[in-house]
Amino acid sequence: MSDLQHLEDEILAAITGAADLTALEDVRVGALGKKGRVSALMKDLGQMEPEDRKAFGQAVNGLKQRVSDALTARKDALQEAEMAVRLQAEQADVTLPVREGPIGAGRIHPITQVTEEVTEIFADMGFSIAEGPDIETDENNFTALNIPPEHPARQTQDSFYFAEKADGSRPLLRTHTSPVQIRTMRAVAPPLRIIVPGRVYRRDSDQTHTPMFHQVEGLVVDEETHFGHLKWVLEEFCKSYFEVDGVKMRYRASHFPFTEPSMEVDIGYAKVGDEIRIGEGDEWMEILGCGMVHPNVLRNVDLDPDRYQGFAFGVGLDRLAMLKYGMPDLRDFFANDLRWLRHYGFSTLDVPTLARGLSS
Ligand code: DAH
Repeated sequence: MSDLQHLEDEILAAITGAADLTALEDVRVGALGKKGRVSALMKDLGQMEPEDRKAFGQAVNGLKQRVSDALTARKDALQEAEMAVRLQAEQADVTLPVREGPIGAGRIHPITQVTEEVTEIFADMGFSIAEGPDIETDENNFTALNIPPEHPARQTQDSFYFAEKADGSRPLLRTHTSPVQIRTMRAVAPPLRIIVPGRVYRRDSDQTHTPMFHQVEGLVVDEETHFGHLKWVLEEFCKSYFEVDGVKMRYRASHFPFTEPSMEVDIGYAKVGDEIRIGEGDEWMEILGCGMVHPNVLRNVDLDPDRYQGFAFGVGLDRLAMLKYGMPDLRDFFANDLRWLRHYGFSTLDVPTLARGLSS
């Protein structure tokens, strides 16, 4: 066997025998590195006769090429094997349950949950969210809403007033979300389609009343909205919110200064044991107030009632939450009792969406 063949066999055997990438690198340096055995052969070339040089050069180049190919192949094989070992060792069992961390331990308050559910439903119908401050002017909370000074809603036993200001005005904690109707109509030209979730305040406290509670106001103003639209919106809302296929709704004539005509809306339900089932049975329960925006209100915000019209509604969010999730006493909502919050609260990661189900 020629020396070259011998050398090649030896190097190829070393390559095959290299157990890992480091060993393989040593073999490469020993053969093809600057001082390697193959490189050394090239130095012999200089001293050869020209005719020998050609044949020897070709033979060495062929050897170099085969050694180099063998190195690449072995390197690939070793890397693959190394990856397989790593994948095996670093395997994660994705079926293991997630450990309850601080995020999992916290709870979303039912009011937040219900606000998000309601917002999601109206957003889907093309409503946007409007907001206003908790401290309001008498003008926005009452006068512009067509609530005359002698109206009982203004009496101090209902409202929390602040001290009179130098100009004689008296700010108050808003008693409803309706002033945001005024703010919005003064700031934005119709067509308008908004809902206003927020806190409201009244001097009241018993099982179903707290001095602070929550409402969501709705307002639509454009040139062709009529009572039929209002009924459709409320019915769709109730079906979505209570997650039922059908609801029975009853409209009773009522009075609100800012709407004409005004209605109170009852929803049909059945009481089965302690449970209230919306959409079944033949009991009625009031859930909201609504009506067509009063022409005086439109005039008060410089809209021409002969051109514009619309509807408005106001719903108690706390009451909606009590009905859907079965809490008996409103005062518990704000007592910060951890046991209550853990029981009635919602998981932080269950964001309500119409697609996945609001409360699942
Ligand atoms: N603001 C009323 C209240 O607090 C609720 C209400 C009734 C709002 C009728 C409206 C409406 O927008 O049209 O009792």
